[in-house]
Amino acid sequence: MRGRKRIAVLISGRGTNLQALIDATNDPNYPAQIALVLSNIAGAPGLARAEKMGIATQTISHRGHATREAFDAKLHEALIAAQIDIVCLAGFMRILSDQFVRRWRGQLINIHPSLLPAFKGLDVHARVLESGARISGCSVHFVIPELDSGPIIAQAAVPVLADDTEESLAARTLEAEHKIYPLALGLLAGGKVKLEDGRAVFSSMPTNLGLLINPLG
Ligand code: GRF
Repeated sequence: MRGRKRIAVLISGRGTNLQALIDATNDPNYPAQIALVLSNIAGAPGLARAEKMGIATQTISHRGHATREAFDAKLHEALIAAQIDIVCLAGFMRILSDQFVRRWRGQLINIHPSLLPAFKGLDVHARVLESGARISGCSVHFVIPELDSGPIIAQAAVPVLADDTEESLAARTLEAEHKIYPLALGLLAGGKVKLEDGRAVFSSMPTNLGLLINPLG
């Protein structure tokens, strides 16, 4: 397919969402290709997933930069050098500066393991269990300067079971993440969703953007 968007995936860890995106881009009809995987952690396991597929990788440590802005400027340089169109955050454990977020506005998306706007931030699954919520899930959203607050592109809901632990809920949620991240990136790369006036605006609604996943059937 011609004119596939060039994607950078930013990771800090194991990269299972990266893997789901790699798998999606193996379909020649998918409107995006991964041109670069960037990590702030040397040896992050996700880097090996990319290398195995022949995808370029780069590590830029956040250490040794005087400010957040200085680190983000290095990221930005690497993205421009690789002619990146869209940046996907996939377990990237650094908060990005307002300046970086503004530069990539509408072309920067993130996956978060909760049904936003509930449970922003870290330790989501522990807080979901603590809250007694019976449904949880995950969200892919445009990134704006406020953490985990940008317009939502796609979500999936999963049940919270009575005997769930953080690990079991995380695993169920992760499976759902692997479904909606490729879906949301495909919509953005295919020009079917845009960030406009602080909202996710869809040119058509070809897909169900809220998945209900119930392993109990
Ligand atoms: C996922 O749960 C994602 O929602 C969160 O960080 C985790 C990354 O997992 N932002 P992986 O590295 O993609 O396996």
